[in-house]
Amino acid sequence: MIFVTGGAGFIGANFVLDWLRTSDEPVLNLDALTYAGNLENLAALQGDSRHVFVQGDICDRALIDRLFAEHRPRAIVHFAAESHVDRSIHSPASFVRTNVDGTFTLLEAARDYWSALDGEGRAAFRFLHVSTDEVYGSLGPNDPPFAETKAYEPNSPYSASKAASDHLVRAWYHTYGLPVLTTNCSNNYGPYQFPEKLIPLMIANALAGKALPVYGDGRNVRDWLYVGDHCAAIREVLARGRVGETYNVGGWNEMPNIDIVHTVCALLDELRPDAAGPHARLITYVADRPGHDRRYAIDARKIERELGWRPAETFETGIRKTIAWYLANQDWVAHVQSGAYREWLARNYGERRA
Ligand code: NAD
Ligand code: DAU
Repeated sequence: MIFVTGGAGFIGANFVLDWLRTSDEPVLNLDALTYAGNLENLAALQGDSRHVFVQGDICDRALIDRLFAEHRPRAIVHFAAESHVDRSIHSPASFVRTNVDGTFTLLEAARDYWSALDGEGRAAFRFLHVSTDEVYGSLGPNDPPFAETKAYEPNSPYSASKAASDHLVRAWYHTYGLPVLTTNCSNNYGPYQFPEKLIPLMIANALAGKALPVYGDGRNVRDWLYVGDHCAAIREVLARGRVGETYNVGGWNEMPNIDIVHTVCALLDELRPDAAGPHARLITYVADRPGHDRRYAIDARKIERELGWRPAETFETGIRKTIAWYLANQDWVAHVQSGAYREWLARNYGERRA
């Protein structure tokens, strides 16, 4: 079986669902079920013996040791993290704990388990670390996109904690020979994304007739990738990636935030028109994110050259599917909009001035 961490979150849940749609190899899924983890994401797997869910913390070494010993996985795919940049600005401690200490704990537990495997098991074992393009810092308008050789220049507590975890993974390979793989991916969107992130937040607010808060001048650029394409890239890297290598994963799809918001509004105008007028009337410019990276873009030629992976979705097809999913799953959205979610909105947006 494979051992997935963070498999009740946005990308992890999409990965587990896709994995079990395309393979019968069981999944051990460890997730702490923080505000971002949600077992509803995995409802389709209820009663499916190929999915073993354990609620627990990646910082809990005794638990990780027990899970390795009981389930004998052939690989670990590590998604679990604190993932939201704005939250890392308000409360960085949990980012250092989960992203740095948690990754360290997993690496140490994996090293002990892997060291005791027989020759064949040792050779086949993989530790795949799921990371982000934000570790590379911010690009100017004419800079080339991030290649795997780009120096790390993280600018937020989130990206600094992910950069630290990437460095630990690299060191465990070079020092101990642990067979690691790292992926650095650009912005994902798609089903089950928590509505604190740009696209689902805009969909949820637009449907509720609330302001659509655009940070700064709205010209910050991200490289958007449909989540299913990210999951396919991870499967390829796990199957055939070269041990010790990193692979950048991106959508070849750079867009300024304001264009994303206008696209979401236009699709909602088509699919769920609002009698009060076009959804774009709700766009509201608010104070910028501190240290806001201006532009990210991924050079995804290495993964295409070595593993033949390219995104299957265009932004047009991916965003249409995503909006259709949110429209069809308003109950899911309502359930995650708990008291804690509303407190977060008040904290992050309450004091932003236009
Ligand atoms: P998410 O916040 O939606 O999910 C994170 C999951 O990790 C949640 O289910 C949460 O309960 C779990 N978790 C958090 N702390 C934990 C702990 N201490 N122990 C066990 N589980 C814990 O995040 P996501 O957007 O799905 O991102 C998944 C991974 O992909 C992260 O490592 C993130 O850095 C990386 N990534 C995300 C994006 C993106 O656009 N969302 C892009 C590139 C890389
Ligand atoms: O690049 C990969 C990263 O993408 C991942 O590693 C992170 O886990 C993921 O959260 C995401 O980070 P971003 O900060 O780019 O995503 P977010 O959706 O928070 O914001 C996208 C852009 O939209 C960013 O420039 C900030 C802007 N924004 C965001 C929110 C939430 C707004 O203008 N208004 C908002 O309300």
